Amino acid sequence: MCGIVGYSGPGNSVGPIIEGLSRLEYRGYDSAGICLKIDNQLQIIKKEGKLDNLKFLIEEQKPFSHTGIGHTRWATHGAVTSDNAHPHGNELFAVVHNGIIENASSLKKELQSEGFQFKSQTDSEVFLVLLTKFFKQSNDVLKSISKAFSTITGNSAFVIIEKASDKLYCLKRSAPLVVGENKEKREAFVSSDPFALVGFAPRIYFPQDEVICESVISPVEVKINFYELDLSPSNRYKFQTNAMTLDATTKGPYEHFMLKEIHEQPKLINKLAAYYIKNEGRKILDDLRNFEAPFWHLTACGTAWHAGLVIKNFFEQINRQRSSVEIASEFRYKNPIIKKEEVGLFISQSGETADTLACQELCAQKGISSFSIVNVEGSTLFRNSNKNFLIHAGVEIGVASTKAFTLQVLTGYLMSRAMEGSLDDADLFKEIQLLSTRIEELCAGGDKIKEVAEKIYYNKGFIFTGRGKYFPISLEGALKLKEIAYVHAEGYAAGELKHGPIALIDEDIVNIAIVGPELFEKTVSNVEEVKARRGKIVVIGPRNSEELRHLSDFYIELDFEGLPNLSPLLVNVALQFLAYHIAFLKGTDIDKPRNLAKSVTVE
Ligand code: F6R
Repeated sequence: MCGIVGYSGPGNSVGPIIEGLSRLEYRGYDSAGICLKIDNQLQIIKKEGKLDNLKFLIEEQKPFSHTGIGHTRWATHGAVTSDNAHPHGNELFAVVHNGIIENASSLKKELQSEGFQFKSQTDSEVFLVLLTKFFKQSNDVLKSISKAFSTITGNSAFVIIEKASDKLYCLKRSAPLVVGENKEKREAFVSSDPFALVGFAPRIYFPQDEVICESVISPVEVKINFYELDLSPSNRYKFQTNAMTLDATTKGPYEHFMLKEIHEQPKLINKLAAYYIKNEGRKILDDLRNFEAPFWHLTACGTAWHAGLVIKNFFEQINRQRSSVEIASEFRYKNPIIKKEEVGLFISQSGETADTLACQELCAQKGISSFSIVNVEGSTLFRNSNKNFLIHAGVEIGVASTKAFTLQVLTGYLMSRAMEGSLDDADLFKEIQLLSTRIEELCAGGDKIKEVAEKIYYNKGFIFTGRGKYFPISLEGALKLKEIAYVHAEGYAAGELKHGPIALIDEDIVNIAIVGPELFEKTVSNVEEVKARRGKIVVIGPRNSEELRHLSDFYIELDFEGLPNLSPLLVNVALQFLAYHIAFLKGTDIDKPRNLAKSVTVE
C-alpha cells in the first residue's frame, strides 16, 4: 500500500527518495509524488499512474534539494488524480500519509466552516489543514503536530516537512514507519519500510505508536530526537542495524518475481527445516515441547488465512488441540469469546496487515499470549507478539504470495511437531527434504503445467475442489488465479459442489480437482458429477491412476508418496504454476496485479 520515503542531509534528496519509492512499487499504488524544499519553498511534483510518470517530470526539471518527502498512494479517500496524490502541501508544510483518518469527514466540515480551503478529496489533507491551523495559533511545530495527531482517529503514519527548516518529522499509530540514519554522511531518512533504506541508512529506529521523531542535521552531525505527545523526551523506540540486502530486488533469470519466488521454494524449505530442527531456531521450538493451549485463535487475511486453515489441521490431527481460524477483519469486530490461557496465533507475511494487527491488539487487551508466524522481522506484528516464529522467506516482491504461504504452513507444521515432541524423528527431516525435492522436480518440469494452461486459459470460470487438507489448497489455488489472471475462480470443498455450485457447471467452466490419496473414491465421484455436466476437468492427483487419466481432460500427476502431512504444499506449488502460466497467456501484470497492494495497512 502507500509507500513513504523521506530524506534530509547534505546530498540531493531526489535520488534516495525515487530509489526508495521504486523499491516499494511492488506493494501496489496508483499515483506518486514528491515534495522538495528548494530555495526555501516547498515544491510539489505529483502524477497519477506509475512512478515512471513522476520520474519523467522530475527528469525534465532536474531539481536539487537537501530535504524532501516522496509517496506512492493507494487510493482510499478520493479518486486516483494528481490532486489527490501526496504530498499535500501549503505555504508552511507538506505531508505524506499512510492509513485512514476515520473522523476526516466531520473534521473537514468543521474546518471548512472556519474558512479553511481544501485542494483534494483526501482524508490526508485534513491533517495538513489541522497542523497549519494549530501552528498559526502556537507558532510551535512539535506542539502543532502533537495536537493535530491527537485530534484525528484511526491508524495512520505521517511524515512532515516544513518551509522553515530542513527537519523531517514523523509519527504513527498502528502503521509502519521507520527512521534511518547515516552518521558518516550526516543523513536522515524516513520510510514505511526499512527495505527502501537498504544501502542508504545503516542504522534504523522503530518508533512506537504516538512517538514524534524529529531529525536534525547540523554542520557536524545528524541527530534523531524522540518525543511523547506531551513533548517530553521519549525512549519508546527500538534500534537495529539494517541487515537487509538488495539481492531480492533483481529477478535473476526469471521473467517475473513471482516465478523467481516459486523457484526459490525448494531451497527455502530446506533452509527453514535446518534452522528450526538443527540450528539456532531449535531453541525457539523446544520451548513449545508439550505446550498445550485450551484453544488457539488463529487469525490472518487472504493467503495467510489459507495457511492458517492448513495449520489448524495439523493442530487438530497431530496435537488434538482445538482451534479456530478466522478472517482477521471478521474476528476483530465479532466480540469473540476469548478466555485466559488461550493463545492468539497471527499469521502474516508482512507483519503490517491492519486487520491482523487489530486482532493481535484485541487478544493482548484480553490478556492472552500472542504468537506470530511472520516473515518480516521487526514488523509491527513481530514487535507486538510475545513469541515469533519467523518463516525466513526473504523479501517477497510478487504481490501474489507464493513462498510465504509455503513457509507459513511449514512453520506451523514444525510448531505442531515441536508440541508433539517429535522434532528429532528422522522421518520428519526426511519428509521435508522430500517435499523440497518434489517441488524442485516440479520446477524443473514446469512445461507440462504450461501446456495445460494453454488449453484452458480462455475459459470463463474455474472451480477448484479438494477435500480435507486439500480444501484450503483449493481456496488458495483459486485466489492465486483470480488475483493474477483476473478470471473468476472459486475454491470449494469437493463434497459441497452438489449443494449449489454445481449449477454453474457447463462446457465453459473448468474444474481443477485436487484428488488426494485420502478419500480417493469419494473425491473421484465428485469429479464424475462435474464431468456428467460437461465441465472441463483438470485433475491434480497421485501418479499412474488409470481412473484419473480416463476421467480427466488433463491430468497433472504428482508423487504424494512419503508426504503424509506435506503433500498439500506440493499440490499448491502446481497450482502456483498453473495460475502463473494462465496469467502469462492473458498478458496481465503478474507481479503487480491491478487494484492490489502487497501489504494492506488499512482496514
Ligand atoms: C494473496 C496475498 C494476500 C495476503 C494478505 C495478507 O496472494 O498476498 O491475500 O496474503 O493480504 O497479507 P500478510 O500476509 O502480509 O498479512
